[in-house]
Amino acid sequence: METKKRIGILTGGGDCPGLNAAIRAVTKSAIQRGYDVIGIQNGWKGLLDNETMTLDRINTSGIIDRGGTILGISRVSPFAIENGPQQVFDRFNRLNLKALVVLGGEGTLSVSSKLYKMGLPVIGIPKTIDNDVAGTDFTIGFQTAVQIATDALDRLRSTAESHHRVMLLEVMGRYAGWIATYAGMANGADAILIPEIPLNEARIEEFCQMLTNRKERGVNFSIVVVAEGTVLEGKIVALPEPDNSRAEDSTRLGGIANVLEKIIQQRTNLETRVSSLGYVQRGGTPVAYDRSLATAFGVKATDLVERKIYGVMTSLKGNRITTVPLEAVQDKTKKVNMSIYRVAEYFFG
Ligand code: F6P
Repeated sequence: METKKRIGILTGGGDCPGLNAAIRAVTKSAIQRGYDVIGIQNGWKGLLDNETMTLDRINTSGIIDRGGTILGISRVSPFAIENGPQQVFDRFNRLNLKALVVLGGEGTLSVSSKLYKMGLPVIGIPKTIDNDVAGTDFTIGFQTAVQIATDALDRLRSTAESHHRVMLLEVMGRYAGWIATYAGMANGADAILIPEIPLNEARIEEFCQMLTNRKERGVNFSIVVVAEGTVLEGKIVALPEPDNSRAEDSTRLGGIANVLEKIIQQRTNLETRVSSLGYVQRGGTPVAYDRSLATAFGVKATDLVERKIYGVMTSLKGNRITTVPLEAVQDKTKKVNMSIYRVAEYFFG
């Protein structure tokens, strides 16, 4: 009996809204093109541990609007395991796969790039709420996180106004401040603090002066959004101790807003409060944009499988779905586009 062509799909890194929409798109479009689809569970770990499930039209129906990933996810890299890459090739061959579609952020896509160079037929799809993957305008999950952060900022505005407070919202973004920039712009925030612009003594003083000026102008509240990866640089006068209490196995940064809260109160005497959005911004229903992007990327990926084009990542450039070599994404971080930040900055203070 002739065996059908098979492809595998896995999700790696941190989860994000829109992964299921992409899994559905890859599966249904691949089935239409005559492939069987094997879901690798729990990222690269599942490939090594042989945790798989068959994906079909039934178990990928009704998931386009579901957050998380039906496949499960992990941050395990085969390169951190003895003979890991070799085991990936062995499992890939045993599963009789023709290609592997990998949904990941910078870390997972870098692993994919290295495996491709070793001979694995792999296609990447960029996903992360952080939007910091090089080679694409947007990643799956980003717009949903921006919407959640914007909703949070809108809600904080009314309570800040009532209590005449400075309100700090800490959002995710370890290496780049995309969520902070877009959500802050959409909310009309009074300041947006991002990793791309380290806070030195002069900037902190200027920032605190801006908050004081608002008060003196009779505006007795302020909204500030800060990306978790924002750093303090150089010598800061009377710096309070940071609180680094968080899960040990988490790759999450965090805590910068609490440091800033103390600095603001010390220097301006303005009543200040902190909210940290945390994992809320990574969970739940994807917005329509992420579902569409995931669907377009998924169909593009199976098109690439058909054409035997491997070692690439699906990408959005302008309004075009295209591809870039995985090599161009490997070990890179896409920083915030400063011309967009300048637009938001226009409304600061
Ligand atoms: O996936 C990206 C991200 O959401 C970052 O913004 C955040 O710092 C990190 O993941 C949290 O990782 P973990 O799920 O390992 O705590």
